Amino acid sequence: MPSAGGFSGFRWTEANALRAAEIIGRYPPGRQQSAIMPLLWLAQYQMLEQTGSAWLPLPVIEYVADQLQMPRMRALEVATFYTMYNLKPVGRFHVQVCGTTPCMLRGAEDIMAACRAFGLKTGEVTHNGLFTLSEVECLGACVNAPMVQVNDDFYEDLTPETMTAILEAFARGETPRPGPQVGRQFSAPLGGPTTLRELA
Ligand code: FES
Repeated sequence: MPSAGGFSGFRWTEANALRAAEIIGRYPPGRQQSAIMPLLWLAQYQMLEQTGSAWLPLPVIEYVADQLQMPRMRALEVATFYTMYNLKPVGRFHVQVCGTTPCMLRGAEDIMAACRAFGLKTGEVTHNGLFTLSEVECLGACVNAPMVQVNDDFYEDLTPETMTAILEAFARGETPRPGPQVGRQFSAPLGGPTTLRELA
């Protein structure tokens, strides 16, 4: 992995240059700075495609700031405020365990322990470059607690066993099915609906 200085040559790919122009075009003239968040997100994805790690080295943040003609410091303020932007390299699969109260009461600590038992360490990239573990605040899926986010997908209704199975599947190169890991549709009751069973 090159140092941050090694990314001073960062440029959009042809496809992402078009995407960036489309995003900037959503905002009125003179308000292009409003595109800072989606552009940083796009840059982080390009980093994942090009380096296998979704993160934002300083030169990449500066590149985006320059494109939006905004002070580089303002772009850095955004990147450092939101946990969705990674300021150091992460594994190909960023496992974000929710540790807020509903998930904590439903076993988030056991989910963390299962991740650690699999070799993941908080804030570190595993030796094979595959995983980074983070603890995050509520991700808005409390109804299916405990849950984790892996890259863009939620894995819900977890147990230590299903968490381990998900990590094993990623390690094998598979994409495990996201969503509830028990027999229910979205956040419907376990075993099926209990009300409104018939169409009125
Ligand atoms: S507390 Fe975990 S998703 Fe809300």
